[in-house]
Amino acid sequence: MSSFVQDVRKETNGFVVGLAAIAALGGFLFGYDTGVISGALLFIGKELHASKFDQSAIVGSLLLGAVGGAIASGYLAGAIGRRRTKIVSGTVFAVAAIASALSQDVWQLIGARFVLGLAVGTASFVAPMYIGELVPPRIRGGLVSFNQLMITTGILVAYIVDFALKGIANNWRWMLGLGALPGIALALGMLLLPESPRWLVERDREDEARRVLCRARRRDEVDDELEEIKEVAKEEGKLRDLLGRAVRPMLIVGLGLAIFQQIVGINTVIYFAPTILKFAGVSTSKSIGETVFIGVTNVVFTIVAVMLLDKLGRRASLLVGTAGLTVALFALGFFFQVAAVKQHAGWLALTALIVYIASFAIGLGPVFWLMIAEIFPLKIRSAAMSVCTVANWGFNFLVSFTFLQLTTTAGKGGAFFTYAAIGVLAIAFFAWKVPETKGRTLEEIETELGTEEETDADRSLSRERAEEPAARSDEPVRRS
Ligand code: BGC
Repeated sequence: MSSFVQDVRKETNGFVVGLAAIAALGGFLFGYDTGVISGALLFIGKELHASKFDQSAIVGSLLLGAVGGAIASGYLAGAIGRRRTKIVSGTVFAVAAIASALSQDVWQLIGARFVLGLAVGTASFVAPMYIGELVPPRIRGGLVSFNQLMITTGILVAYIVDFALKGIANNWRWMLGLGALPGIALALGMLLLPESPRWLVERDREDEARRVLCRARRRDEVDDELEEIKEVAKEEGKLRDLLGRAVRPMLIVGLGLAIFQQIVGINTVIYFAPTILKFAGVSTSKSIGETVFIGVTNVVFTIVAVMLLDKLGRRASLLVGTAGLTVALFALGFFFQVAAVKQHAGWLALTALIVYIASFAIGLGPVFWLMIAEIFPLKIRSAAMSVCTVANWGFNFLVSFTFLQLTTTAGKGGAFFTYAAIGVLAIAFFAWKVPETKGRTLEEIETELGTEEETDADRSLSRERAEEPAARSDEPVRRS
């Protein structure tokens, strides 16, 4: 982290830092709007007479919206530009937060949360993209993990807001409605920021791109970078390149990370922590307080991850983290399954949740978002990242939507044992398939992941990549 901070100081200026902070409000909102529902749900359930199914739909509608948002933003970011997409998403965040707060029945709330989800999905894709295109290459990798830090901070702030407001009238309405403030800040902030130089070049607006780069870079770097952007813009890959043999193994790794990140049950904890604690016998008010601990643990261990990822490497963090969360899931299963444990070891539920979240935060949490920015060739990076993001939200929806039902059909113990078994599969997949990307060039990663039998098209793709300037080809992995 400290070497990252030094790099930021050396590589950039106040304009770029301010720009990244405003743009990362998208990550913050992603975290706030997904996290806030955990505490709000306890009150919504009562006031709107929401059944278990309704509650799952209230959580799930945002996630379905996010799938739509992640697909739409892939198109919008190209058609109207990154900046305008972010202004639209900030506005939608604000309007949909207010609409959620004013909902009179379950269906209105489900509708408002779906629209909110469109903005969340957009933010999860466009925020890292916009930041990545505007910050200097050498600190780009670090800022990808910074986005995860903003997500976890958003979740923590949501938990604190839930805790602080739990005693007041109309509490859940305030909890949901307050998300409008950062939404407004994002929309207004983006009005002040420039468009991404890469998008401007694609639109043949080179002069404007140069002006933006002059503000974001040292003078002597501007010409070289503009040339690089022009080269890359010419090379933009097609969606069908994604299915080419050269890229397929990387896509399997990216999709494996995207899907396992969700099906080990992370968001059953993030969205339902107070509900799980209530299952364990904790009171409503205490459960919201204990959830704040979970949020703090998430942020603290994400900071630890940012420091360790470049030292220990991605694989070690991923394997150790996933092993830790699997053990915690077995412990939770055991807790709910064995009546005597539940009666005499009440502390075990919260402890297991804390171990679970800490383990996720040092491994799968940041590593998924970081690695999808590292493993794909530049040409198809944006399309491949969008496919992985959509899969991530899709499986997030599936798991969150089925969780409460699973606790009824398989029992609470059975539900956590199921996620634990998936954790074991995840460890095997990561050990087998995920390469180490720390300190390696993209060519090295590509060689390890690529297949032996290349098609002509693949060969020419590799040749073009080999001819790319080294500084560009290895930028996301050189950041220790
Ligand atoms: C995941 C989210 C999750 C969050 C928890 C992110 O990496 O994509 O689904 O809620 O981490 O910190």
